[in-house]
Amino acid sequence: MFERRFQHGTTDSTNERAFTALADGSARHGDVHLAEAQTAGRGRLGRTWISAAGEGLYLSVVLLPAPPPLRPAALTVAAALAVRDALIELGLEHSTLKWPNDLEVLGKKLVGILVETRGLDRDRPHYVVGIGVNVRQRSFPSELVEERPVTSLALEGVDVGTEEVTERLLAQLAQRLDQARDDLDRLSGDFLDATCLAGREVRVRSGRSEHRGRLVGLDLAAGLELEQPDGRRRVPVETVEGVTAL
Ligand code: BTN
Repeated sequence: MFERRFQHGTTDSTNERAFTALADGSARHGDVHLAEAQTAGRGRLGRTWISAAGEGLYLSVVLLPAPPPLRPAALTVAAALAVRDALIELGLEHSTLKWPNDLEVLGKKLVGILVETRGLDRDRPHYVVGIGVNVRQRSFPSELVEERPVTSLALEGVDVGTEEVTERLLAQLAQRLDQARDDLDRLSGDFLDATCLAGREVRVRSGRSEHRGRLVGLDLAAGLELEQPDGRRRVPVETVEGVTAL
């Protein structure tokens, strides 16, 4: 897996490069699109992912999984865990995953993951898993810092280049994608552990609703399980927009 690598130099967005290849029929499962810089890097909820040259890792992977279908939530979680595994290998010990796809160090954002799909071929589901890692930044543009606290591997004392992060990350991603297919329970459990929220009182945002309770379980096929005064409630994973400790 991940044999085909496309290095784009400066490009609009590696996710967009992956979708262009999907649209013209040249994409294959496991294709990796990399950029030195992005001029229109995108994040979740229509946000911009600031992508200065050589400072971060900007990577997108094309997935054309064979049936049975994989849930997008499982892909997001697999990617998040893979990044965390890779960063632990590189010496970053204390990071937390924040639902659904942020990786933080003491509340500061280090990684962003954007899983996208477009209805290009109904018979063959496809996904583009875009991952941005702050690697070498020593400072960030003020508009970003004003939005939320951010950090980089360099600022956390991990002195590595983007190539090394790429290799570790892809090796871990291959394993976590296998797990998403073969052992969703374990993937769910590992994710819950990595959020550090198991057993804690949490607030879950789900569409227009908000649920509070003790987080007692996560099953990526079924939902988040909350213990509430009147019993247990399951919140379907695909509807969950955020989970925060109370
Ligand atoms: C987020 O946290 O909002 C997700 C950010 C995802 C950024 C990555 S960088 C590589 C890939 N290409 C993009 O345009 N976005 C993703």
